[in-house]
Formats: sequence, structure tokens, C-alpha cells
Amino acid sequence: MERRGFLSACAAVAGASQIGVLSEVWAVAAAPYAGTPCFLLDLGRPVVAARELLRADGSAYDWSGGVGPSRSIVAYSAICAHKLAYPTREVSFIRFQPDRSPTSDGDVIHCCADHSVYDPSAGARVMSGPAPQPLAAIVLEYDPERDALAAIGTVGAEQFDAFFHKYDFKLALEYGQGHARQPAGDTTVVRELAQYCRQTIRC
Ligand code: FES
Repeated sequence: MERRGFLSACAAVAGASQIGVLSEVWAVAAAPYAGTPCFLLDLGRPVVAARELLRADGSAYDWSGGVGPSRSIVAYSAICAHKLAYPTREVSFIRFQPDRSPTSDGDVIHCCADHSVYDPSAGARVMSGPAPQPLAAIVLEYDPERDALAAIGTVGAEQFDAFFHKYDFKLALEYGQGHARQPAGDTTVVRELAQYCRQTIRC
């Protein structure tokens, strides 16, 4: 998504120190559209840029790394790059997994629908599973004077059109006809995933 187009929907996500106060290191927010949840994660350590990530079509892009006081905060679309599983109010198959599991050493984004595993410290590159490309990254800017974050764009393979097409009926029921595709407002609410959806699938 182009920065210019996104800026009108610029979502001030949250104060960075506020994220650190959360007992969990991750949360979910709506950006850039009202109906497209994103993960906002404080990985607790500086996160450097990742170069030459590949979209499914073979084109490459760079991801600029973490932001915030410790450069530890990252954000990604929570729409799985495989078959577009995403956190709904009822259930989420995709989540941040801090702990070690049979499929990873932890600190990964894991989609239990078909076991795609993404590395949030490396632009959400695919570590394992059927996903053909990384999660789209939300580009963040940090304002140290205000201790505030703003989402200013996306980089990588956006799947928003496919998402709205696939879940058109479901999103209309949840948000009202056409409202899921409304740009996120000037601010958006960040919630821990457990506060956002009733059941998180673990695998
Ligand atoms: S939808 Fe996420 S791995 Fe298939």
C-alpha cells in the first residue's frame, strides 16, 4: 500500500511504553482497515532490518526492523499468507507463540490452521509450513517526544483484496455492510488477543 494513501488513515496505534506495560508481549489492533486485524508485538529485544524478503510472485522487498525506545516493536497483518485465516471475535487460529513448541523455539507467529510459522523478528518470513510468503508488515513510526506509535503504511504482500473478497459475507455480518473496509480512524484500539476473541487455538 502506498504511504500517501495510507496516511489519510494513519492509525496512531498506542504509546510504546504502554505496550511494554502489558503483561503479554503482543496485542491486536485494527489497521489499516476497520476489519483487518494486525499484530502489534514487543519482542523485548532490538530487531534489525530484514533484506530481500520474497513475495509469492518472486519480487523482493526490504523490511525496516523494529521501532520504539528499544527498537523492539513490530507489527504485521494478522491475515495468514496461506489461506487467510485471521483472528475473529469467536476464534483465532493464528497467534503469537512465545513458548517453545514441537514446531519452533518460540517467539514466532504460528497459524494452527495448517501450521505456517512466521518469524516476527525477521519481517515475518516463513520458517515452516505452506505459506508462500511472509505476512504483510505494518510500517510503524515512533515519536519519542509523545511516546507514540503511528502506522504509516504496509510493506510486503498485502492480501486485503483477497481477504475482503473471501470473507465478504462474514465481515458484513460482523461490521455491517461495507464497514469492514472503512479506513481505520486516527486512533485504533490495541487489545491483547485474549480480550479480542473468545478462543485462541493452540497447537
Ligand atoms: S491458513 Fe494459516 S497455515 Fe493455512
